[in-house]
Amino acid sequence: MKTEYITWSRERGYEKEALARAAEILRNGGLVAFPTETVYGLGGNGLMREASMKIYAAKGRPSDNPLILHISKREDLNSIVRYVPEKAEKLMSAFWPGPMTLIFEKKECVPYETTGGLDTVAVRMPEHEGARELIASAGVPVAAPSANASGRPSPTSAEHVKEDLSGKIDMIIDGGSVGIGLESTIIDLTEEVPVILRPGYITSEMISGIVGEVALDSALENADVSSVPPKAPGMKYRHYAPKAQMTVYEGRMSEVIEKINGIASRYPASKVGILATEETKEYYPHGQVVVAGSREGHTIGQGLYGALREFDHLGVEVIFSECFSGEEKSEALMNRLLKAAGHRIEYLPGK
Ligand code: TXA
Ligand code: MG
Repeated sequence: MKTEYITWSRERGYEKEALARAAEILRNGGLVAFPTETVYGLGGNGLMREASMKIYAAKGRPSDNPLILHISKREDLNSIVRYVPEKAEKLMSAFWPGPMTLIFEKKECVPYETTGGLDTVAVRMPEHEGARELIASAGVPVAAPSANASGRPSPTSAEHVKEDLSGKIDMIIDGGSVGIGLESTIIDLTEEVPVILRPGYITSEMISGIVGEVALDSALENADVSSVPPKAPGMKYRHYAPKAQMTVYEGRMSEVIEKINGIASRYPASKVGILATEETKEYYPHGQVVVAGSREGHTIGQGLYGALREFDHLGVEVIFSECFSGEEKSEALMNRLLKAAGHRIEYLPGK
């Protein structure tokens, strides 16, 4: 299949003509990758079973892993979910449009192909204006998982999408690098106490500030997903992962740097990757140092997935990473970092 590429910018009003063509592809059951504020999404008509099946095929994604439906306005929710709990209303008023996905009981019109066989459906209204315009012109809820090949880190630029999906989908819309860089917070509202199934930019503190008590899906605390299956089926897969084995070191920064340098020196410099930050990169004399972002500038979330992909390009065989537990949005950041590392973490003095 030939993939069409178009570029978008807010300044140019998201090029109406291109937008209309993308919307038409979606309506007719084709696939379009587009930017959102979190990561790039691979969009398809969420009410058309064939479109959802195409999404799974293009990503190589297991079909028991449900998709998120993206809407452009609050009213669109009523046609796809059975009822809207009061806590959901409050959360939507506070954080929609934005990087928050809510789980509801689905109406019949939402096919099981979209929900991975579940009676619930995940819904999000993205903040990205272009994304919302596209969904509005498509006139249907847009099913959109992250636009990466299954098992690879989510794409934070159109380049990443091209790497994974070129030739497999109808269109890629290049809207530049995304703002947040980590996927939306997922909250299950089908029980009395809301449960966070995937941490994100909207933190548990922000959520409990609006609806009181919240719980964290217990599987998130557990490295061994076979013992406690996560409620978001996607969280059980080895996700966000670079090809090389990665270990995270947590402790006082001086200890971490010394430890990483000690182990790195046992490998040829071209084969060892080090995940560092702007503030620490110069302390590693041996190895392929990749910077996730700046601690002071709070850009680690934005740069993490790109950094993980960079290790694949460099072809390193092992990766040693600093820990980001003290950083802004560390709940989401550490969740993704530890998944990428298969939960390999070593604690050093100062932790
Ligand atoms: O930020 C985001 O959410 C991005 C952008 C494109 O919007 N999308 C995204 O989609 O991350 P995806 O498919 O990569 O991740 C969706 C997650 C999966 O872990 C899936 O298992 C979970 O949401 N999920 C979807 N529907 C669900 C449901 N009904 N119940 C529980 N978990 C669900
Ligand atoms: Mg994904």
